[in-house]
Order: sequence, then C-alpha cells, then structure tokens
Amino acid sequence: MKIATAASTFLLALSATSVAIADGDPAIGKTKATPCVACHGEDGKGIAPNYPVLAGQHADYMAHALRQYRSGDRKNAIMAGFAANLSDADIEDLAAWFASLDGLDTAVRGK
Ligand code: HEC
Repeated sequence: MKIATAASTFLLALSATSVAIADGDPAIGKTKATPCVACHGEDGKGIAPNYPVLAGQHADYMAHALRQYRSGDRKNAIMAGFAANLSDADIEDLAAWFASLDGLDTAVRGK
C-alpha cells in the first residue's frame, strides 16, 4: 500500500513537470532568444551545419537539453555558458519559442 502511494506520488510529480514545461510562452521566449540567434539563427535553423536546428524541435526535448547543459550533465563548453544563467522559466519560454518555428518535422506519438 505504501509502495503504491509512493508510486502514484512519483507519477503525479512527473506529470506536474511536463505541465510546467508545456507552460512556456513562445512570445516571451522570442524576447529572450537574442543571444541564441547568433548561432542558432533568427529562424532557428542554425547559421552553419555545426549549430543544431532548433526550429520545430520538441519543446520538452530542448528544455531537457538546456537543463542538462546548466547542470553539467550534458557537456558542451559553448552551451554551458549560455545555459548557466537561465532560470526554469527562461528555459521553458525559449523551448516554446524555438518549438513554434517551422523547421524540423518532428513526429508526435499518437498523431
Ligand atoms: C556561440 C554559439 C551558440 C549560442 C550563442 C547558443 N548556442 Fe545552443 N548550441 C550551440 C552548439 C555548438 C550546440 C551543440 C552542442 C552539443 O554538441 O551538445 C548547441 C546546442 C543547443 C541545444 C541542443 C540541441 C539538440 O538538438 O540537442 C539547444 C536546445 C540549444 N543549443 C539552445 C540554445 C539557446 C536557447 C541559446 C540562447 C540562450 C543558445 N543555444 C545559444 C551553439 C550555440
């Protein structure tokens, strides 16, 4: 019984996290993306092949990547610097903005 309660608490925490990620505001994200477009491009498609296309990428994937750069779990000297001072809200807004742009054709499971 205790295990079942712990498991459902864990699941609730997980779904709360994904709701928070989906709450990013693309219009606010656009205003925060000024430092990013130098490499990832105004259109989010990258100014050169070594800069990943962000346009159309899943917001939750990008938010996850940014949190990992911030924590150091994903190591990249360039992105570590840009992610270091982002708040959780910044990350969600930036991810929502780049996800809203036309670019990658990312499949959504079940659609
Ligand atoms: C100086 C160039 C540069 C700037 C500025 C920059 N990035 Fe990046 N970004 C990169 C590079 C290079 C990578 C690939 C790093 C790696 O291999 O992990 C990357 C990777 C990423 C990824 C992961 C993409 C993927 O497909 O896994 C995200 C998300 C991202 N950047 C978002 C941002 C955001 C948001 C900003 C602004 C706050 C930003 N970047 C600013 C160069 C830059």
